[in-house]
Amino acid sequence: MTDAIQLGLCGLGTVGSSVVNVLKRNGELINARALRPLKLAHVGARRDNPLCSLEGIRVSRDVFAPADDPEIDIVIELIGGTELAKELVLRAIGNGKHVVTANKALIAEHGNELFAAASANGVQVCFEAAVAGGIPIIKTLREGLSANRIEWLAGIINGTGNFILTEMRSAGRDFNDVLKEAQKKGYAEADPTFDVEGIDAAHKLAILAAIAFGMPLQFDKTFTEGITTLDLVDVAFAEELGYRIKHLGIARMGARGVELRVHPTLIPEKRLIANVDGVMNAVLIKGDAVGATLHYGAGAGGDATASSVIADIVDVARVIDGGSSQQVPPLSVSQTALESPDIVDIEDVETAFYLRLSVLDEPGVLSTITRQFSDVGISIEAVIQKQPADDEKTVPLILLTNKTCQKTLQQAIDGVQSLTANAAPIVRLRVENLG
Ligand code: HSE
Repeated sequence: MTDAIQLGLCGLGTVGSSVVNVLKRNGELINARALRPLKLAHVGARRDNPLCSLEGIRVSRDVFAPADDPEIDIVIELIGGTELAKELVLRAIGNGKHVVTANKALIAEHGNELFAAASANGVQVCFEAAVAGGIPIIKTLREGLSANRIEWLAGIINGTGNFILTEMRSAGRDFNDVLKEAQKKGYAEADPTFDVEGIDAAHKLAILAAIAFGMPLQFDKTFTEGITTLDLVDVAFAEELGYRIKHLGIARMGARGVELRVHPTLIPEKRLIANVDGVMNAVLIKGDAVGATLHYGAGAGGDATASSVIADIVDVARVIDGGSSQQVPPLSVSQTALESPDIVDIEDVETAFYLRLSVLDEPGVLSTITRQFSDVGISIEAVIQKQPADDEKTVPLILLTNKTCQKTLQQAIDGVQSLTANAAPIVRLRVENLG
């Protein structure tokens, strides 16, 4: 019988313990698919995890130990964070080991360096689990859609944010109240600002865009706007206009370069992705040949993420065993680089906008305000104006514009803000049709 491939696992948290359990539960099936037995031989973890048994497995309290173990073929990095994880992965690569990781921050921020090191050492760094948990979105982009020129992709790629927005819309709950629940349920990052300010989604978006467009990772150029200041009234007005607000990561290839942006976005409620609720993730990809495809599933959680981690282990195992003929090549991002396009400044990105104004309820106000927009060439697509409450002198005025860039919109907004009829700062959200 062929020798088993020796796996070394670093980190035994929620995902690590699930990797141990799924490897045990589905071992026979996984070995058959890997074309060779896989043996979890060494675990590096500071403490045991009662969620799994390590019987028969060598255990070290030094998380780096599997990366230094000469018996180990594949190191599975599940310690999280960036600095220590980077050191560990570079150590494993330097020791000639393949690496499988679920670490989105590590790949997004240091991937270019890690892939270069892996390439120099003739090993692979695989990261399916880093984006959208259990959804095999990296393999989809690399393998299933490899015939396509990707035009754009848009994803709900942070479960915590989606859970919060879903509860705000369906139950009218307050942002902070829902965030506390998400933290209690274990969805949120250790620092929940990563979830609600769009940093976690930006990590994932940078990775998706690098693969989709064959360019280096550009997390530092990804625009992020969070959902912390989102008001329930805008969720309700959006609904009245036939839209839902989702915290989307959007990457689009255009004539001027690539747009990379994470922000709350109004999308038509009839789109399937608008109906992805709770902690679930979904990625909508538009390819020139296939059209639009939607990929849906659990974006977090132990077993779902372990599913992706083990898929990578199987991919690597096939290469170790029989050369690349058995496997669609898991090219590193840098190896896929076809071009290195510019990232479009957010000021120049064109979208439609939702605007909420608070204006004096007086004759002629609506026309004065809309003139500020027509003067700079922005057309208004829809308007909602409510009756004022009995003792109120102002009314909310909701405008949906056609496509324009932020620079032009700002000219109109400056005009409106100089009017005495304007009574409060203007709320501005982007709108995407996703058709
Ligand atoms: N905090 C992340 C989320 C976990 O809410 O989606 C998965 O990356």
